[in-house]
Amino acid sequence: MAQVPFTDIYVDDDIVERASDVLRSGRYVKGGELRAFEDEFADVCGTDHAVGVSSGTASILLTLQSLDVGTGDEVLVPAHTFFASVSPILTLGATPRFVEVDPETYTLDPASLRRQAERATTPVAILPVHLYGQMADPGAIRSVADDYDLAVVEDACQAHGASRDGVRAGTLGDAGCFSFYPSKNLTVAGDGGMLVTDDPELAASARRLRNHGRNEAGEHVSLGLNFRLGELPAAVGREQLRHLPTWNDARARAATEYGDRLADLAPVVTPTEHEAAEHVYHLYVVRVPAAYRDPLRDSLAEQGIETGVHYPTPAHQHPAVVDRVGETAGLARTEAICDQIVSLPMHPRITDTEIETVCDGLRQFFAENPASRPTLPTPSESRPSTTGGESA
Ligand SMILES: Cc1ncc(COP(=O)(O)O)c(C=O)c1O
Repeated sequence: MAQVPFTDIYVDDDIVERASDVLRSGRYVKGGELRAFEDEFADVCGTDHAVGVSSGTASILLTLQSLDVGTGDEVLVPAHTFFASVSPILTLGATPRFVEVDPETYTLDPASLRRQAERATTPVAILPVHLYGQMADPGAIRSVADDYDLAVVEDACQAHGASRDGVRAGTLGDAGCFSFYPSKNLTVAGDGGMLVTDDPELAASARRLRNHGRNEAGEHVSLGLNFRLGELPAAVGREQLRHLPTWNDARARAATEYGDRLADLAPVVTPTEHEAAEHVYHLYVVRVPAAYRDPLRDSLAEQGIETGVHYPTPAHQHPAVVDRVGETAGLARTEAICDQIVSLPMHPRITDTEIETVCDGLRQFFAENPASRPTLPTPSESRPSTTGGESA
């Protein structure tokens, strides 16, 4: 058992009781728990519809498919994200057009987004990622989407309950996509996901696509597969949803605690929370000079402190992406970020003592290995692009 675990899964008697009720009911799919979870989740997000699916990836895939995104279409997506923001685009035969991220929030850089929208030949959608629990700039995204007539599909898989400029994650565009993977702010004791939308046709399409493309009359009217969310995960999700605001507050409090303790440690750049953002700290990610990142993680691991890297490889450099779209140059900032980041333990039940232990570990490491503050290149320093990334 780690001295400071990276995350922590919450199970209480209410959750166990709800789960056993479902187990005993014999009703495991297409039942009342899912319908109730969808209604409650839509209420929390403030949308008209919510459609439960088998994963966050499925929520992105079915949303893009419902919007008819396919071969020849370009989708603007940040280069700094988890692979699953990009794989549904490629699966549908469309092309990701990679955008640089902001140096402070690590979400879509508005200037880069506009440049890439301008340069794209067949753009159809923007897929912003609200990375680490902080929303990408909603005003900038809406403005580019309106100017270039693009759909907006939010990857809110890390941002349950986040908001910025009064806009709630999931409500900015055509649909918002959420994941309930076990490490997320809201989980379902397994895999699961949800898409939320105000568009009744999009919701109806996603409902069909998650269930073999079948309509209410039982005809298979589109090529859907099985992406359903079961009754057991839905029941657990409903129980967890009640705790979400308290848990998000606890994460924010832990982030403040980290920030206070690390403020004067020069080689560590702590996260920046935009002044109009309600950041839900799915992850607490700091930057350190690239050469020190892995030795630092080893040193913390020796003291029983678990850390992570989200994500070590920029989206445009994964072999599955390169195979399909070729090399993308000109994303130097994203590449530098991927080399510098380290995710520290973060969950709602982390204690001040545990945070102190982590911060002491960082302090001790940099006392023994003096280093200067890490920097990031500006887009003008980026290399020229041939296939979509930022060019000078
Ligand atoms: C940013 C992002 N997008 C998409 C996903 C995919 O979600 P899932 O793992 O539920 O398929 C995740 C979570 O893993 C994620 O963090």
